[in-house]
Amino acid sequence: VHLGVVAVGFSGGQGKSGVDAAPQALIEAGLLTALHEDLGFTIHHDGRVHDYTEYKPSSDPPLVVADAKMPMLRPKTVSAVTRALSEQVYEHAKEGRLVLTLGGDHSIAVGSISGVAKAVKQRLGKDLAVIWVDAHADINTPHSSGSGNIHGMPVAFLAGLAKPPKEDPSVFGWLDQEHHISPKKLVYIGLRDVDVPEKKILKENGIKAFSMHDVDRYGIGKIMDMALEYVGDSPIHLSFDVDALDPMWAPSTGTPVRGGLTLREGDFICECVHESGALVAMDLVEVNPHILDTTGFTGLMGASETVRAGCSLVRCALGESLL
Ligand code: ARG
Ligand code: MN
Ligand code: MN
Ligand code: MN
Repeated sequence: VHLGVVAVGFSGGQGKSGVDAAPQALIEAGLLTALHEDLGFTIHHDGRVHDYTEYKPSSDPPLVVADAKMPMLRPKTVSAVTRALSEQVYEHAKEGRLVLTLGGDHSIAVGSISGVAKAVKQRLGKDLAVIWVDAHADINTPHSSGSGNIHGMPVAFLAGLAKPPKEDPSVFGWLDQEHHISPKKLVYIGLRDVDVPEKKILKENGIKAFSMHDVDRYGIGKIMDMALEYVGDSPIHLSFDVDALDPMWAPSTGTPVRGGLTLREGDFICECVHESGALVAMDLVEVNPHILDTTGFTGLMGASETVRAGCSLVRCALGESLL
């Protein structure tokens, strides 16, 4: 099987540095070698970790949006970087390759998912389904966001629930219909820190979401049955934020939230998506190998454990545990 890999060392969707170092750390931990040698993938990777500095504007002040609580932070940069990424991912997906995007913060999903959505519409005439595994819903609009960080907004832009802001329509102005996903083809798993306005957005749009409460109630096996039944026969993009895992397993991430998935539950989600045969793309995001965390695992130990967890998730989604 042909696997397109895009490594994106981008941290501009949020304020902490270090998440840009994740792709290199994942690759140095042997992830791509394992995918090739153990799982037999033919890997198409340009050998680079992209920071897309060539697309970054020289000046990118916070964008004050009318009636918003907070200005949007680094809007032109995130828009330009995700646009470049979208085109790169599209090039892989249109060749029929499975696409793996290694982030980076979760704002990069605007690029990866839009590129895959466009290719899937063209090649298969189908709508892409997205399984978004995360502690957070990342569905704030520029109006509802309490932080201004765009890594809390990618789903809103992808699903067309947030439009390019009137104050600067060039921000995500490139993201048109062909890149969009349907809110009806989106499923969340692992939610436990959803902002009040985000809950309203989920309800109003009838978006399918399995919180940690649901995982506790039904067990992860039943949750995956329900999630995969919900997506039906649509091709699947799995967007995995490592903070879906409990900080016990993945402490080195920018916005850790206690009470999350165990590593086995995370791996199990990935295995089930693999087994469905419908996986067309995966993102792994928010691994931050530089964080000096506050969870008890400090420094290098927490970072290497988080990188290890990230590698495990990707290997499971790509078929490692098949006997
Ligand atoms: N909901 C918060 C916000 O809008 C946190 C988002 C965290 N997102 C993430 N990709 N880790 O800023
Ligand atoms: Mn998250
Ligand atoms: Mn919160
Ligand atoms: Mn996220």
